[in-house]
Amino acid sequence: MGQLSLARLRSFCMLSAALIALLAYYVYIPLPANISDPWKLMLLDATFRSAQQLSHLIQYVGLSHHLIALNFIIVSFGRKSAWSSPNVRITDTDFDGVEVRVFEGFPKAKEPLKSGIIYIHGGGWALASARIRYYDDLCATMAEELNAVIISIEYRLVPQVHFPEQLFDLERATKHFLKPQVLEKYSVDPARIAISGDSAGGNLAAALGQQFSQDDTLRGKIKLQALIYPVLQALDFNTPSYQQNVNSPILPRHIMVRYWIDYLRGNQDFVQAMVVNNHTSMDVEQAATLRARLNWLSLLPASITKDYKPVMQTVGNAHIVQELPQLLDARSAPLIADQEVLQNLPKTYVLTCEHDVLRDDGIMYVKRLESAGVDVTHDHFEDAFHGCMIFTSWPTNFSVGVRTRDSYIKWLKQNL
Ligand SMILES: *[C@@H]1O[C@H](CO)[C@@H](O)[C@H](O)[C@H]1NC(C)=O
Ligand SMILES: *[C@@H]1O[C@H](CO)[C@@H](O)[C@H](O)[C@H]1NC(C)=O
Ligand SMILES: *[C@@H]1O[C@H](CO)[C@@H](O)[C@H](O)[C@H]1NC(C)=O
Repeated sequence: MGQLSLARLRSFCMLSAALIALLAYYVYIPLPANISDPWKLMLLDATFRSAQQLSHLIQYVGLSHHLIALNFIIVSFGRKSAWSSPNVRITDTDFDGVEVRVFEGFPKAKEPLKSGIIYIHGGGWALASARIRYYDDLCATMAEELNAVIISIEYRLVPQVHFPEQLFDLERATKHFLKPQVLEKYSVDPARIAISGDSAGGNLAAALGQQFSQDDTLRGKIKLQALIYPVLQALDFNTPSYQQNVNSPILPRHIMVRYWIDYLRGNQDFVQAMVVNNHTSMDVEQAATLRARLNWLSLLPASITKDYKPVMQTVGNAHIVQELPQLLDARSAPLIADQEVLQNLPKTYVLTCEHDVLRDDGIMYVKRLESAGVDVTHDHFEDAFHGCMIFTSWPTNFSVGVRTRDSYIKWLKQNL
């Protein structure tokens, strides 16, 4: 081998080593010791971060809003057309003008009527779809294992629409499904209907649940609600779980705050102030009574609060709440609803993950519902991260994904 090619080989090796080091630096994030499948999680997180950065670049060069670009990436990678197996029939249709994907489990026994579940997918009110593989697989599994009809709603997303438009879409589709002739068409038992969703979908499911329980014509038509790591409030971004998981994978705190601001059509310049709870400082009078409803020092057990200190500013940025009064609206933040609203809610399931900024939103809701006399099951996973329940198949299969999904379906099987 000549001098030249040796030198070339050497520089090639050095370049590769540098690239690998750079890649490892990008992919590697410190993770808690007992989180599920840590290396796989790092790769998933790095992939998601790259897609986020690419979509910011697309926005920077003026091609498209970054959320539209990001959702385009997510949907084009994961789109699945309606399909059917011997056990489930899947169809795309619309309910009163709102697109839905319907999953019908074929009855194995001679049970004449099925249960029905309204499913609301997550994605920060801005991302994902009922038609991507992750949600399609979840709903197909639910339809099959529960012999149920799952209505997965393709509600419109940010930035096309903002709060409360998402809720209006869901309300329209749900009311259509609840019509006697529609239930009959799908062979659904009107006494066995649940509403469910994950993450931002859990937020929307909880808000819809509260709305229906206050409506005389709809109260009692929903037997159960099942909320998977739901987003429930935007008043305190320093709960113990927000502090503990500031930089946790998939959903670091600043990203969650950005989703909130976009959902409420606010200014992204508010992020820094909101991260330190400047938007709900002591001098913001409108927030005073609501703050008591998420006083985690009294709502959470000592095993959760540990040594974490509340972040309460004396003086902050009072104009944020003036510009975004929706921050204090229980339809966006179901955790701050009145006790009288909570006490009419149906039997509830809440799933929380240890390594998730939203863990305490969920636990505080469990506590408030229990105090209001609602029958609640709280299912907590020590090694779980935000979003895990949809990651059940290769190459993004996580053991905790399968365990959370099975536990959720088991509860529905026993209670619906
Ligand atoms: C929070 O509010 C205080 C008082 O207005 C201000 O001095 C501080 O800079 C604010 N912090 C942020 C991060 O906006
Ligand atoms: C995870 O680790 C923490 C501390 O490192 C410990 O308190 C907790 O019990 C562990 N959980 C499991 C399921 O091993
Ligand atoms: C993921 O799926 C592959 C292939 O089916 C399997 O070998 C692997 O053990 C699974 N991993 C987890 C964490 O479930």
